[in-house]
Amino acid sequence: MPQYKYDTLAVHAGQHPDPLTGAVNVPLYLSSTFELTGVGTDRGWDYSRAGNPTRDRLESALAQLEGGQSGHAFTSGMAAIAALVAQLRAGDHIICSKDVYGGTARLFNQVVRHYGIDIEYVNTDSVDAVAAAIRPNTRLVHLETPSNPLMVLSDITAISKVAHAKGIEVSVDNTFMSPVLQSPLALGADIVMHSTTKYLNGHSDGIGGALIGSTPEHKERFCFIQKAAGGIMSPFECYLVLRGIRTMPLRIRQHEENGRAVADFLSKHPKVSKLHYPGLQTHPQHELAQRQQKGFGSMMSFDIGSRENAARFLAAIKIFLNAESLGGVESLASHSATTTHGSVSAEERAEMGITEGRIRLSIGIEDKEDLIADLNQALAAV
Ligand SMILES: Cc1ncc(COP(=O)(O)O)c(C=O)c1O
Repeated sequence: MPQYKYDTLAVHAGQHPDPLTGAVNVPLYLSSTFELTGVGTDRGWDYSRAGNPTRDRLESALAQLEGGQSGHAFTSGMAAIAALVAQLRAGDHIICSKDVYGGTARLFNQVVRHYGIDIEYVNTDSVDAVAAAIRPNTRLVHLETPSNPLMVLSDITAISKVAHAKGIEVSVDNTFMSPVLQSPLALGADIVMHSTTKYLNGHSDGIGGALIGSTPEHKERFCFIQKAAGGIMSPFECYLVLRGIRTMPLRIRQHEENGRAVADFLSKHPKVSKLHYPGLQTHPQHELAQRQQKGFGSMMSFDIGSRENAARFLAAIKIFLNAESLGGVESLASHSATTTHGSVSAEERAEMGITEGRIRLSIGIEDKEDLIADLNQALAAV
């Protein structure tokens, strides 16, 4: 596809009319297997674990949106991360952002470690700390930027330079930003990962994940893992994500506008402390956010003093829903210690700064005045 502007790309990437019927929407190919044309010959597909025409369209769109070589759709964000680390061997070492999604830490600590792979959590907001953690057997630096829920940023360009000098690949979990607001491959990273469950789907009606590679070797490797391990996205889920992508830039603009307004309101509220939102000038990495991101997004978290206060706040919200997840059209609020980081030990949470009073918000696309009024009345109940 020619170099179209992003909004055009989002509507058209992977979306050409069906060659058989001219249907303008991507057809759902609900077929596990495909008739072969002879012995060892086919029409491009043979079995849906290895490849499916609906999935192909989504994978093409994902590659185009992230400026990569190939996209690969998985059954969940976690399946995508599992596929990412499936390339490693016993004895390898991974450097991972410290304040990473609790599910990623659970996979790394309770599954991947058992394969003899060593994982080290590093404050990746410091390039020096990443450089110091590199060992001869380090194979991957996995960044989550901004991180979850503390919104800590990692400098993708600087860390990629340090890692590449030692022949190490850098992967970035771009879930919080979406492909609209951050382009890790253009910044120097090698692989992008998404939970498509969030902004790519955008409507909280499906679970999915993706890897986007930047080299032909990634394409070969991730296609192989899809076929060998089988954690692929179903055609119907692919259809939903493709549909979500078409309105993603529009949605993100509204998410972003609402996010800034809510952060501004919360930053002045006396019951709110330690508000983390990269769009605030008080955020320690505000300058990096301006440089590396195309916007500040709509994720933020704050401290409300105690678990009891958090419970009162979550019981009082009316438009916001007390629910895990993010990136859907509706606004959500969640208690980090018992949801996203429920599987992380209390000691580790305390060390990370995820207190019992920390609330994470995913700001949706409702009217921002309604959202602020809802937060205001819920804070009054605390
Ligand atoms: C930053 C981040 N990465 C990965 C995941 C895992 O994605 P999924 O729930 O689609 O498996 C999540 C889920 O919340 C997430 O927030």
